[in-house]
Amino acid sequence: MVLSSEDRQLIQATWTKLGPHMDKIGGEALTRLFCTFPQTKTYFPHFDLSPNSKDVQHHGQKVVKALDSAIKHLDNIRGTLADLSDLHAYNLRVDPVNFKLLAKCFHVVLASHLGGEFNASVYLAYDKLFHCVADVLSEKYR
Ligand code: HEM
Repeated sequence: MVLSSEDRQLIQATWTKLGPHMDKIGGEALTRLFCTFPQTKTYFPHFDLSPNSKDVQHHGQKVVKALDSAIKHLDNIRGTLADLSDLHAYNLRVDPVNFKLLAKCFHVVLASHLGGEFNASVYLAYDKLFHCVADVLSEKYR
């Protein structure tokens, strides 16, 4: 999956605008994930998984920080997320199908904050980004 220069511009411009919401969008996406796809909760038996709990918010912030690094290094997503790739494959053993589910939830959260700015081109750009991130996080399974 290749991000065009237009995709990159759209992602970076809209991501910057999320600034004030950055602390909460990860928790919102995870809350949606656990609600819409409850099977994903099995990976977090040690968390309080009630909507927007401290555990969910705190973990959401870590996920968003990783996405933020990827967005700042769109030319080297693989290198940027290398440690997380090992972690998810060897330690956590997250079934890669779950990355697609989380991406769906992020799309809804992004749309809810960006409103009309989350148009078809922006959607496509983030869809490609989440594909790239999922590819990296699941490549060690092959
Ligand atoms: C941990 C990122 C998708 C399950 C983490 C951590 C980060 C992260 C940054 C913390 C690593 C650390 O503390 O050193 C991401 C990103 C994802 C993603 C960027 C995709 C966009 C998923 C999915 C699942 C999952 C889809 C399962 C449904 C876990 C679990 C942990 C973890 C179980 C360990 C939680 C803990 O015990 O603290 N992930 N993750 N991740 N992730 Fe992911």
